[in-house]
Amino acid sequence: MTRVYNFSAGPSALPTAVLERARDELLDWHGTGMSIMEMSHRSKDYVAIAERAESDLRELLSIPAGYKVLFLQGGASAQFAAIPMNLLRDKTTVAYVNTGIWSKKAIAEAKKYARVQIAASGEPNNFCAIPPRAAWTVDADAAYLHYTSNETIGGVEFQDIPDAGGLPLVSDMSSNILSRPLDVGRFGLVYAGAQKNMGPAGIAVVILREDLIGEPMAATPSILDYRQQADNGSMLNTPPTYPWYLLGLVLEWLKEQGGLAAIEAVNVRKSAKLYAAIDRSPFYSNPVDPACRSRMNVPFRIANTELEKTFLAEARAAGLVNLEGHRSVGGFRASIYNAMPEAGVDSLIGFMGEFERKYG
Ligand SMILES: Cc1ncc(COP(=O)(O)O)c(C=O)c1O
Repeated sequence: MTRVYNFSAGPSALPTAVLERARDELLDWHGTGMSIMEMSHRSKDYVAIAERAESDLRELLSIPAGYKVLFLQGGASAQFAAIPMNLLRDKTTVAYVNTGIWSKKAIAEAKKYARVQIAASGEPNNFCAIPPRAAWTVDADAAYLHYTSNETIGGVEFQDIPDAGGLPLVSDMSSNILSRPLDVGRFGLVYAGAQKNMGPAGIAVVILREDLIGEPMAATPSILDYRQQADNGSMLNTPPTYPWYLLGLVLEWLKEQGGLAAIEAVNVRKSAKLYAAIDRSPFYSNPVDPACRSRMNVPFRIANTELEKTFLAEARAAGLVNLEGHRSVGGFRASIYNAMPEAGVDSLIGFMGEFERKYG
């Protein structure tokens, strides 16, 4: 068996150790004689698995008291709707920062439920830079301020938590959660689909301040109602039991790596050396302002676009796969989440150098 270096943006590579453990536990989980997939979500064994995942997440992110953690279905996209439905309350307006394709999707969904004020937009800069906080105009009467902490397609990442101007701060962290320590106390709500940095597809995590729970719009579906989900331990209906278990294994693996400060150090090293390789050569380029380049998703191009197919084919032959840029932007993108070993990045950099020597 050969495992490739998989640079997919999501669903993405999982730590090999996690997959091996899942394999070993697949048919007979801890002597129960059954797979996790065959267990009732109400069973004592399963509830313990679910609770362990929550406590490990709380430990890794140092989630302060006064926050609920929910494990929900519908991906991050369901939260695009659930957030305005639950947090609008007696307000009419919500404020959003537009930094690219995922912000736009969140904005389009929120517009179904509220007036959306665009507090700032990266559009004039082709979404290659984040407008400085001082240039934002945030409606003081908005129910919350939303931003996308890492634009998975554009490769643009906030390096700091922006000042929310007194509003509850909401962030889509689908593609950079758990990649660095986070001061959760600065947020009203943080959410993320699991399939990049936390586990497989099929489950999303919502971390929210308890005082924001409880006054959803009348038409909010029960499964998107934070109060009902919180009161039922995210088990209002059958949860995605196997993804939740795998997410728990990823969290255990992260703790074994030394937690978020340790993984951040690796992520800084991996991304810095890849950007350095791109910048040092006129053959490759990345358009993003260095102040907000993503540590997780590194888009890059070669000047001669006719060579793109050859690059991808030769990379694939070298065991480096899923380097295509998103279909909306083309070029290449290397997604280097926590589970991508540093050796995978070294291998990509080596390949890029070889390719340039051959075709540059
Ligand atoms: C930043 C960001 N937000 C939201 C989503 C949508 O997530 P889901 O497919 O879980 O709804 C993605 C998926 O790639 C993403 O990268």
